[in-house]
Amino acid sequence: MLTLIKNIKQIVGIDRTNRMRLQGKEMAQLETLDDAYLIIEDEKIKAFGPMSDLADSKFDLEYDASGRLLFPSFCDSHTHLVYANSREHEFVDKIRGLSYEEIAKRGGGILNSAKATAAASEDELYDMALQRLDEAMRLGTGAIEIKSGYGLSTESELKLLRVIRRLKEHSPLTIKSNFLGAHGIPMEYRGHQEDYVDLVINEMIPKVASEGLADFIDVFCDQGFFTVHDTERILEAGIKHGMRPKIHANEMAVSGGVQVGVKYGAISVDHLEQMGDAEIECLKGSETMPTILPGCAFFLNLPLSPARKMIDSGLSVAMASDYNPGTAPSFNMQLVLSMACIRYRLTPEEAFNATTLNTAYAMGVSDILGSIAVGKLANFYISKPISTYEYMPYSFGENKVESVFLKGRKL
Ligand code: NIG
Ligand code: FE
Repeated sequence: MLTLIKNIKQIVGIDRTNRMRLQGKEMAQLETLDDAYLIIEDEKIKAFGPMSDLADSKFDLEYDASGRLLFPSFCDSHTHLVYANSREHEFVDKIRGLSYEEIAKRGGGILNSAKATAAASEDELYDMALQRLDEAMRLGTGAIEIKSGYGLSTESELKLLRVIRRLKEHSPLTIKSNFLGAHGIPMEYRGHQEDYVDLVINEMIPKVASEGLADFIDVFCDQGFFTVHDTERILEAGIKHGMRPKIHANEMAVSGGVQVGVKYGAISVDHLEQMGDAEIECLKGSETMPTILPGCAFFLNLPLSPARKMIDSGLSVAMASDYNPGTAPSFNMQLVLSMACIRYRLTPEEAFNATTLNTAYAMGVSDILGSIAVGKLANFYISKPISTYEYMPYSFGENKVESVFLKGRKL
């Protein structure tokens, strides 16, 4: 099947060199093409070029994108999309002065979600998650990583991962799954958390692996949660079972999470609100994508990651939503794009790259997604009539996406 999109005012985010990620100064490069066409064959981009070069041929479908810009879909490389309840009561507690850590200590936070998630059936969780995915897709997201971590028991963690497997089978989005059994310490393990780490290693990981349920393994390596030692033990077990690490690091404190992630070849280390020079140095020359989660820092009023300093020192930066009910209840990547510019001082070019190609890398799909390139999946969105691509981050809070194509099909 051949589909033509014609009269595109501008294609944004073209990559002709098959780069897997962009680092330092490269992040400022954003190739565009004015007055363009794009041809889709089945699921993939077949060709694009200036309208003046479009040869006369037959297409099964044609769309006219006059006045509109075409962008590669956002890749959201960090979400906790499968959960049961929202947590607006804790939101109010935080406004009244309690900290995220204080709420967690008294059994709120992750444990609160785990309780509700344990009580929900697999079908109920699936239906809720599918609805959220549908909304995220319409806001321009074309690929998404989803973590477990609201189970915290073997049975419940498997239930969440099976929901993610069903989503992979039924959603047009490209989905990667991440096993985050070490997300919180259940109450009954308080004071002897090494026993919970044993459970993750000896029972959960082998079961998750035997059903092939996870692409990645994650640990919340931070003050008040899992230690570097816990993290090393869990990562070693996960790697043995074929899961590549992705780490929650340095949200609450300079936790050693960045170093442990790099040491174990993590595909990404995420959060990074607390970054010293040692963390930046350690990431240099590594294969690990530093990933910042602007929605979480915004929602919790956390210090901002030194994104500008990271890019200026030659590092890559990716930015994802962290969508979850406790610290980032928004999967809107258009908002992440705006925050990248407004709060972290990325230029629009850097912000697009941080939310597309670099997040694609952080979930292991930058060979097939994250830019407009011949042979990549035809996952892109067409904007409403807008003036320039800079308008996208500039006009924060407004949905600028008019139509969405995933795997070559218009939603
Ligand atoms: O990425 N930091 C740890 N995990 C989540 C929050 C989970 C929750 O509070 O429910 C995060 O921010
Ligand atoms: Fe997270």
